[in-house]
Amino acid sequence: MTLPPPISLLPLLTVVSLICAVYPVSGWRPWPHLRPNSSDLLYAGSKKFEGSSEFVHLRYHMGPVLTANITVHTIWYGTWQKPQKKIIREFISSISAARSTHPSVAGWWKTVQLYTDQTGANISRSVRLGEEKNDRFYSHGKSLTRLSIQSVIKSAVTARSKPLPINPKSGLYLLLTSDDVYVQDFCGQVCGFHYFTFPSIVGYTLPYAWVGNSAKLCPGVCAYPFAVPDYIPGLKPKKSPNGDVGVDGMISVIGHEIAELATNPLVNAWYAGQDPTSPVEIADLCEGIYGTGGGGSYTGQLLEAHDGATYNMNGIRRRYLVQWLWSHVVSYCTGPNALDQ
Ligand SMILES: *[C@@H]1O[C@H](CO)[C@@H](O)[C@H](O)[C@H]1NC(C)=O
Ligand SMILES: *[C@@H]1O[C@H](CO)[C@@H](O)[C@H](O)[C@H]1NC(C)=O
Ligand SMILES: *[C@@H]1O[C@H](CO)[C@@H](O)[C@H](O)[C@H]1NC(C)=O
Repeated sequence: MTLPPPISLLPLLTVVSLICAVYPVSGWRPWPHLRPNSSDLLYAGSKKFEGSSEFVHLRYHMGPVLTANITVHTIWYGTWQKPQKKIIREFISSISAARSTHPSVAGWWKTVQLYTDQTGANISRSVRLGEEKNDRFYSHGKSLTRLSIQSVIKSAVTARSKPLPINPKSGLYLLLTSDDVYVQDFCGQVCGFHYFTFPSIVGYTLPYAWVGNSAKLCPGVCAYPFAVPDYIPGLKPKKSPNGDVGVDGMISVIGHEIAELATNPLVNAWYAGQDPTSPVEIADLCEGIYGTGGGGSYTGQLLEAHDGATYNMNGIRRRYLVQWLWSHVVSYCTGPNALDQ
């Protein structure tokens, strides 16, 4: 059957290219496609495309991917509560947990492991928590730019006491900003992005991602579906699995960015599109899709916990809602809770 390009893809490409025309980084927001008159009204009768399309040409551009055991070094910027950190740490630890209940976060990562480099080496199965750094006193203020983010990372790796280790081969640097911090383009265009640091600023080329807590600024944009935008009448938010709308919303964005960092750490490996300054990566292709049938403004089939919370995968001790990823093997978006698995 010939399907039109996924409805979520059409506006996405526009959004991504708009952002990237100016900044060569990949941005993300969960639903550029949900607008009044969105095309899902047109396709209301056929929701079973799950982001599948023969028009998507995700290609490998010969650059490195993360085949060595991955270590995630976290920088907590601003004010973070212990329970919030725990939700996020346990998500990262769940990625390569040996035993977890199906559908699991580890099952979600299997799609990432399908990607290889020139030598045929797969992306590592192992993702572990590394050192952490607290930047409690907002070293670079409460409004960060894309460049000042690199200065925050520099401060963390050059700190006099307990600097983060420099690990360009298998380290990922995850900068998380608290809900009172604004980052350039946050909310309007992006909920998170990834790139790599410049030797001229940081001294090294380190793959990093930033994800912000949107609880105060724009939960309806970046913590959907646990909060919903005001302009959509009658849409009710779902109950979040860990009781923290902002942080539960960050989880899917963190997953999005880590998956893309692993497959495209220097933005020269796995992406679709002709233009390397506006790459469309494995998570971009599936944004807003969390379950079978997802697409347009529909999340797809989700699971409901006994307390009424919405989720789609199990971590080691908690439940999470994480967007699906593009599999280049089958050419569609998939996740551990897919009904055909
Ligand atoms: C939605 O579509 C209707 C009918 O085509 C049109 O009259 C209306 O202006 C559109 N609204 C928006 C916000 O584009
Ligand atoms: C490694 O990648 C190949 C090609 O996508 C895939 O067939 C294989 O299953 C992958 N191995 C693992 C352990 O995921
Ligand atoms: C990678 O991690 C696995 C466990 O997840 C461990 O058995 C292995 O020794 C590690 N390899 C290296 C090179 O550290």
